[in-house]
Amino acid sequence: MFIMDTSRLSKTIEKALNAQMTKEAHAAQVYLSYAAWAADKGFDGVANFLFRHSGEERNHMMKIVEYILQRNGKVTVIAIPAPDADPASLNNCFEKVFASEVENTKEIYNLVDLSLEEKDWATWNFMQWFVKEQIEEESLALSLMSKIRIAGGDKASGDALYNIDRDLANAPDDAPSAEDATTANP
Ligand code: FEO
Repeated sequence: MFIMDTSRLSKTIEKALNAQMTKEAHAAQVYLSYAAWAADKGFDGVANFLFRHSGEERNHMMKIVEYILQRNGKVTVIAIPAPDADPASLNNCFEKVFASEVENTKEIYNLVDLSLEEKDWATWNFMQWFVKEQIEEESLALSLMSKIRIAGGDKASGDALYNIDRDLANAPDDAPSAEDATTANP
């Protein structure tokens, strides 16, 4: 009997989207671990900011899950790799956040390349949201690095670190395009 294939995703794109879904889940775990580290070191403002950002990454993961399902593809949930070691300092924490966002941007670009190769314009179009989001995410990470660089980097005084921590307690969760994204409204 002929069974019609109703998936609107090629196996290659489906695999790449599932991999990206796991990478966003990994990013959520990375932010979660840095947040817990910051809380333990007494940086409660930084911790609060990073905990909220971990939620953002989970929203990114859900956005991909919902897209795969919408295209009648198969979602494959696998184990999430553990985050790296804890940061050595607040300066190092912000450097690691930036490096992790740049790495994620590369992975998003690879998916855009793949959708272009396959002429999968629906996925290409879907991925543009992430391309735009990564501009915001990198810009946010850069602003964290600027703050600590101005404060003296690894040599920042206790007062300067206290001010950064207080600033971040009141900072918005993220740039506006990410703030709008929730699991219900990705
Ligand atoms: Fe899901 Fe921070 O990018």
